[in-house]
Amino acid sequence: MRNTESIIGNMKIPVFDLKRQYEGLKTELDSAFTTVFESGIFILGENVRLFEEEFANYLGAGFAVGVGSGTEALHLSLKAFDIGSGDEVITVPNTAVPTISAISFAGARPVLVDITPDTYTIDTKKIEKKITNKTKAILPVHMYGHPSEMEQIMKLAEAYNLRVIEDACQSHGTQYNGKNAGTIGDMGCFSFYPTKNLGAYGDGGIVVTNSEELYNKLIMLRNYGEVSKFTSKIEGFNSRLDEIQAAVLRVKLKHLDTWTNRRREIATLYLQLLYNSNVQLPCERQWAKHVYHLFVIRTNKRDALKGYLQERGVGTQIHYPIPIHMQEAYKKFGYKAGEFPISERNAGEILSLPIYPELTKEEIETVAGLISEFQNTDL
Ligand SMILES: Cc1ncc(COP(=O)(O)O)c(C=O)c1O
Repeated sequence: MRNTESIIGNMKIPVFDLKRQYEGLKTELDSAFTTVFESGIFILGENVRLFEEEFANYLGAGFAVGVGSGTEALHLSLKAFDIGSGDEVITVPNTAVPTISAISFAGARPVLVDITPDTYTIDTKKIEKKITNKTKAILPVHMYGHPSEMEQIMKLAEAYNLRVIEDACQSHGTQYNGKNAGTIGDMGCFSFYPTKNLGAYGDGGIVVTNSEELYNKLIMLRNYGEVSKFTSKIEGFNSRLDEIQAAVLRVKLKHLDTWTNRRREIATLYLQLLYNSNVQLPCERQWAKHVYHLFVIRTNKRDALKGYLQERGVGTQIHYPIPIHMQEAYKKFGYKAGEFPISERNAGEILSLPIYPELTKEEIETVAGLISEFQNTDL
């Protein structure tokens, strides 16, 4: 049996473990790194161009633009639609802070809508009454790897002439009714933060779209607004995916389907082993393909369970402990505690268990066994 003790502190089963992935891909990755180093080209070279093409093909999208992070993918998407001061963007309170910082940095107001109690994605029945004459876009977050209900979102967008920007930062390969998350709205935004299902060795992100016009605008926005070298047509930024990250991602993309299948196998095993437990398990609606970026359970004894697992060498995390409307940074938007009860309840009860393709059956059984043991001793 492998000795995982030394991998991350004294965690026997860490919540994430990127060293294991590298061990499996070392030869391919080392060769990709060397090729980039030897080429002397580090910005907007062949690796970025080819990865954009490969990722767009993988999802069945027309175009893809590599950017600096998932946050920037969202920010530039909003900018591509000239969304800014005075505009409103509808999204959820139970997301990673960057979903909101992208909206806020663009100058717009995030208008929050609570989530459903089972999918943890936007409750589409609650969207319509939040639409005003300032609303410019809906920004659904495909949370933990489960898609939002896109059909209802697209219908509302059409009825009210709104843009749809999908936050697919946790959802590489997620499907809604057979369509890939990120390709249903106007633009789809992905993060390549190292622990994501498709992760770089640093920061990275991408926007996918079927619109050539948006593609051309994003190409300028990520690179000083340039239409050609030293000629800026619009105000832009520096937010580029770099060659080293693109080379890593090209290697890893070839493994993504295998990894997704393995994540789904692990989830099935957890679901079987925890079937009779008192914890609330993740759902996969019949129109969804969940890619289990995170395997999130819910219990009102969350903090005690987290401590119990930690003491026994199992790492867990909370995604996320403070809903957006309770974050100090976003007080300015004037939301109050109690406004989004499902997101608030989740923040106190959710726990992400270890889930990554390299996790062994023995480790999954250990985690599930400890959860059952905790219940027997604690409840
Ligand atoms: C839902 C969601 N949105 C946005 C982001 C931002 O991505 P990044 O960390 O690459 O900026 C993340 C990743 O942390 C995320 O999980």
